[in-house]
Amino acid sequence: MKLQDRVAVVTGGGRGIGKSICLAFAQEGADIVVAADIEAEVEEVAGTLEQSGYKALPVTTNVTNPDEINHLVEETMKRFGKVDILVNNAGIVGKRFFLHESDDRLWRQTIEVNLFGTYFCTKAFLPKMITQQRGRIINIASVSGKQASPTNSAYCASKHGVIGITRTLAAELGLLGLTEITANAICPGVADTDMLTGKGMILDELAALLETTPEAVLEERIKPMSIQRRLIQPEEVAGMAVYLASDDARGITGQAVNVCAGSVFY
Ligand SMILES: NC(=O)c1ccc[n+]([C@@H]2O[C@H](COP(=O)([O-])OP(=O)(O)OC[C@H]3O[C@@H](n4cnc5c(N)ncnc54)[C@H](O)[C@@H]3O)[C@@H](O)[C@H]2O)c1
Repeated sequence: MKLQDRVAVVTGGGRGIGKSICLAFAQEGADIVVAADIEAEVEEVAGTLEQSGYKALPVTTNVTNPDEINHLVEETMKRFGKVDILVNNAGIVGKRFFLHESDDRLWRQTIEVNLFGTYFCTKAFLPKMITQQRGRIINIASVSGKQASPTNSAYCASKHGVIGITRTLAAELGLLGLTEITANAICPGVADTDMLTGKGMILDELAALLETTPEAVLEERIKPMSIQRRLIQPEEVAGMAVYLASDDARGITGQAVNVCAGSVFY
């Protein structure tokens, strides 16, 4: 088991990629704090883990709210007494607009969840890791953090920002001599989750924009973006998160690792 006796906090752990990470971490021996903004989903994931014999704590948390994040830290420390791994996974894709036609409120909301959420959670949990002199911070960015994403400028900017935070944090940890704390990002390609296939989400929006069907968007536009011509499954991202959280990855820090079936090469 790669994460025996570790305590992991996973934001956005209520479904999709975050839920897969919760399960994969638990299977490797970690105790899990499931944190997301939808109470029913958080309770469901934690309940399923507990029923399978793992230790899991549900904490409904909106990552844009520092008070709720402080509560998340308190609940984590009260139940488990430490935090070894923080996965900043909570995210939204936002609505699609050409930049000059963007809705300012929605643009700001995407930045607040994806970028401020990562910043607030990291700022709140890092002091615990510094006290422990060990830790793992894993930020779920995107291939949109490395390349253009037309009609999705807020998301693209937020994910570029997440990679920037990751690299800067890793450099700061090095400057502080904290060599047992690493910070890395994972950049998934288009993944098979609600964010893609949910009602009114990416496939529906692109289909409306391109005046075609969601099926045609998937087959003709999305899948060909990767050289394997396929979607990423949440479990594939979770596998990389397990590796980055493990002792095997202690020399990997400040990296933005693509899990994208070959859609980006840098
Ligand atoms: N699905 C993709 O194609 C894809 C590709 C690259 C990167 N990503 C990234 O992976 C991460 C997970 O996405 P997913 O595809 O599983 O999406 P999803 O919509 O299935 O899950 C998102 C999770 O984040 C939570 N969340 C949203 N806003 C929140 C907030 N303000 N506070 C707390 N929790 C909040 C949701 O409740 C949910 O649990 C996101 O950061 C996303 O940007 C997804």
